[in-house]
Amino acid sequence: MVIEIFKEKFLDRWFNVVKGKQVGLNTDEASIEKHMINQKVCELEVKKDWQILELFAGIGLTSYLYSKAGKEVHCIEKDKAIFELLKENLTEISNIILHNDNNINVMKVMVDKQMKFSLADLDPFNNVYFQFPLAMQLIDNGILMVTSGELFAIQRKVAIKKYGEYKLNNSWEFPELVLLPWLIAGAKSMNKEIRLKHLYVYPTSARFLFEVGDYHVSKELEVWLKDRKKYLGWLGKRSIKSKSLSDFFKVKESV
Ligand SMILES: C[S@@+](CC[C@H](N)C(=O)[O-])C[C@H]1O[C@@H](n2cnc3c(N)ncnc32)[C@H](O)[C@@H]1O
Repeated sequence: MVIEIFKEKFLDRWFNVVKGKQVGLNTDEASIEKHMINQKVCELEVKKDWQILELFAGIGLTSYLYSKAGKEVHCIEKDKAIFELLKENLTEISNIILHNDNNINVMKVMVDKQMKFSLADLDPFNNVYFQFPLAMQLIDNGILMVTSGELFAIQRKVAIKKYGEYKLNNSWEFPELVLLPWLIAGAKSMNKEIRLKHLYVYPTSARFLFEVGDYHVSKELEVWLKDRKKYLGWLGKRSIKSKSLSDFFKVKESV
């Protein structure tokens, strides 16, 4: 298969991007919102001595942003072709460390070495069920960002195995009512506290911003986030009323 590559400008740098592979600078509302929030976090929160972990690096757009704000960024990308672009895109940036591997393997080594990060970004196309417990071991205090691309699967009930049986008319409630408690409980089971500072939901994805441990985001960021839209795309055009969890989610008893 021939991969078509073209160039796109992000911040002050040109990036090689794969056509049609969704790892470029996408223009849907959720992608734009992600980049705007990331930039604000870099502007208001990230300190010059921060170690940063980008677990799903893609072609390196967000890694580049983080490298400008923090001390060092570890970027992990498992796809070989995308990794080649990542490498080209981020050459000559001395504070970026690249890993061409499954992030689970890299994190296991990092946990063994007792490495710690002040910002961890989990930005997959799908889910983070295997990555989340490892990532929580690598961050004690700081900021955690988590994307979930599961909303289509939820609509199609592919995720039934994971969550048991549910009747779900409104997939947009999944991030807040199902995934959020799962993440908070998961962190708690590891003696960590994560506090939700922001969540936006798009028809196909959602993204959370958490404070971890003793870290508290600035008042300035809180005020800025307060004005951001919570529901994007066509969800933003509906008046969404949250139901209670038990209304739509019934955990299947094991027989
Ligand atoms: C949504 S893109 C990342 C975009 C990037 N965070 C950005 O903002 O520019 C997700 C990337 O994660 C990679 N990926 C998926 N599973 C992975 C894994 N287990 N380990 C490392 N990379 C993975 C995919 O190949 C894809 O390039």
